[in-house]
Amino acid sequence: MKNDFLHITDLSPVEIQDLLDLAIALKKEYFNGGNPPVLKGKALAMVFQKPSLRTRVSFEMAMQHLGGHAMYLSPAEIGLGQRESIADVARVLSGYVHGIMARVFDHDHIVELAKWASVPVINGLTDYNHPCQALADALTIQEKFGRGRGLNVTYIGDGNNVAVSLMHVCAKLGWNFTIANPVGYEIAPSAIEIAKQITPETGAEISFYNNPHDAVKDADVIYTDTWTSMGQEEETAKREEAFAEYQVNHRLVSEAKKDSIVMHCLPAHRNHELTDEVADGSQSVIFPQAHNRLHAQKAILARAFGVA
Ligand code: CP
Ligand code: NVA
Repeated sequence: MKNDFLHITDLSPVEIQDLLDLAIALKKEYFNGGNPPVLKGKALAMVFQKPSLRTRVSFEMAMQHLGGHAMYLSPAEIGLGQRESIADVARVLSGYVHGIMARVFDHDHIVELAKWASVPVINGLTDYNHPCQALADALTIQEKFGRGRGLNVTYIGDGNNVAVSLMHVCAKLGWNFTIANPVGYEIAPSAIEIAKQITPETGAEISFYNNPHDAVKDADVIYTDTWTSMGQEEETAKREEAFAEYQVNHRLVSEAKKDSIVMHCLPAHRNHELTDEVADGSQSVIFPQAHNRLHAQKAILARAFGVA
C-alpha cells in the first residue's frame, strides 16, 4: 500500500508520534551539518491550484536537503480537472515522478488524485483540511511543552481547513481542543464527528464556544488563522464584520495561561485576526512554527518515499 498523506486521522497516535520523532531527528541532523541524500534520484511533482509561500518553498527545500528534486506546477499549467481529468493527470504524473504533493480547492479532488496515482500523494491543503500544517504545529507545540497529554489548545476564529486538521491532531495526541467561532462559522459537523470517535481512546476533550474570552481561559496554545480563506475572497467584507470580536490581541492573550504561546499558520492579516503587538510579542511562535513546516515535511516525504 502506498503512503499517501491526506488526513491526520489516517494515522494512529503512534504513527503520528513516530513522524514527529523523525522530524525532530531530521531537524537536528540538518542543523548538525545536513541530511544525507536519502531521496537521491527521487522527484516530487508539486501541483498548486492556489497560491503558497510556505508549502511551496518548504517542500522544495525539503526535497533538496534530502537529495531529491521538486517540480512546481502552477494553476495555469495543469488545469486539474479542467484542461485534463484528475484521473488522467494522476496516471501521467505517476510515470514521471515518485510522489505528488497537491494543493486543491475541493477535497474530493485530492482523494481522486490519490485514488488514481500509483505514487504517494501528499495533501498540501484543501478547502477541508491542512494536515501538513497540523503536523508542523504539533512539532512546534511539543518543542515548547513536551509530548504529554492534557494540553489546552484554543483556536479563535473560522472553523476552516486549518482548524479541522488542528482539532484532529489534538484529538489524536490527547490534547484538549477548544474553538470559539461566530455562529455560522463552525467546523464541518463531519470533521467534528471524526474527532469525537477518536477522543475516547486518547482522553482529549473537544469544546465549542462562541465567546472567545470563555474559550481562551486556561489555554496553553492560542491559535488563529485568517477570517477569509483562499477562494472566499468575495465574502471578505461580511467576514470582517462577523469576526470583529475574534481578534487575538493583547487583552485576549492576557486572559490565557501566563506561559501560553500564540500560533498562526500564516499568511497573517495583521491587525485583523492577529495584532502586530501579539504577532511580534514574546509569546508568539509564528516564525519557528512556519520554519517547522520544513522539518515536519521531511518526515512526511521520508515516509511517503519509503525511506523512513
Ligand atoms: N501555512 C501555509 O500553508 O502557508 P502557504 O499558503 O504560504 O503555503
Ligand atoms: N485557511 C487558510 C490557510 C492558508 C494556509 C486558507 O485556506 O486560505
